[in-house]
Amino acid sequence: MKTIFSGIQPSGSVTLGNYIGAMKQFVDLQHDYNSYFCIVDQHAITVPQDRLRLRKNIRSLAALYLAVGLDPNKATLFIQSEVPAHAQAGWMLQCVSYIGELERMTQFKDKSAGKEAVAAGLLTYPPLMAGDILLYSTDLVPVGEDQKQHLELTRDIAERFNKKYNDIFTIPEVKIPKSGARIMSLADPKKKMSKSDPNQKAFITLLDEPKAIEKKIKSSVTDSEGVVRYDKENKPGISNLLTIYSIFEGVSIEELENRYEGKNYGTFKAELAEVIIESLKPIQDRYYELLESEELDKILDDGAERANRVASKMLKKMENAMGLGRKRR
Ligand code: AQP
Repeated sequence: MKTIFSGIQPSGSVTLGNYIGAMKQFVDLQHDYNSYFCIVDQHAITVPQDRLRLRKNIRSLAALYLAVGLDPNKATLFIQSEVPAHAQAGWMLQCVSYIGELERMTQFKDKSAGKEAVAAGLLTYPPLMAGDILLYSTDLVPVGEDQKQHLELTRDIAERFNKKYNDIFTIPEVKIPKSGARIMSLADPKKKMSKSDPNQKAFITLLDEPKAIEKKIKSSVTDSEGVVRYDKENKPGISNLLTIYSIFEGVSIEELENRYEGKNYGTFKAELAEVIIESLKPIQDRYYELLESEELDKILDDGAERANRVASKMLKKMENAMGLGRKRR
């Protein structure tokens, strides 16, 4: 059976973008793959975090993974910092990465732009991500479009390592959803929706209450044409809402365009908010149950144990390939 690996940073509350671009794929793929899903808390600290909020977000993300439908009997769910091999592999892979290629990463450029003090970890994020993926001999990495560049770099690093040291890594493929690979900000539809956006109106989280969802959809930026029509270039706001609607309701964008012909944005937005609220309700109910349960910690303990077992074997192979440590007699 082939293996998939993916991670989400506990850098805020999971958005519709994270859900549509990543989590929804995980739920579908877990049946056909040996699956590892990670809460990448070490990636989250590449930008400043409040320690108490981070702890809360880690647990919350774990509960959400399960609430959206991950089955712990099928998939291994774990926290990155509970599997030390990730940081160790990340270090070794930093030593086969070049500063120039790391500096070219769009995410590094975006997140460091205009900042006086930038953590070195923000630059060396991709080799840590490469370690996350390569430790599990991953065949496929389901992610949103924004992670494509990091995935390409992971492949380059793995190929370089295989050539220079020993052919131990599987070269992973990226899997990006056909629709919803890049959900846009509700406040600025030319920008990606991000969970760490300081503008709360820019995103909807899976845990938002109905009133908040209604308000955010209602105030989302559209255009003055007043026609519900998909045109990504000229009508990015409405096109983004149509994408979200079509994914949540499981109907095509054309069908929605026909349904809303001659109707105004107000009606369209109100009905979209309703669809989102109804779809999130069962996820939220399950989430609150899980958050209070001991089951959650047990699943994370089991996940860390399973992940540690697999990752430490690959780590040993990496150390042997690079000549680290002593040869045991
Ligand atoms: N807007 C998006 N549309 C579709 N997919 C998205 N993803 C993120 N934003 C969108 C996908 O969600 C997964 C988890 O992302 P991450 O937590 O590793 O970090 P990110 O890609 O940087 O996501 P955010 O929400 O923008 O986080 P912050 O604000 O902390 O940087 C990935 O598969 C990602 O592609």
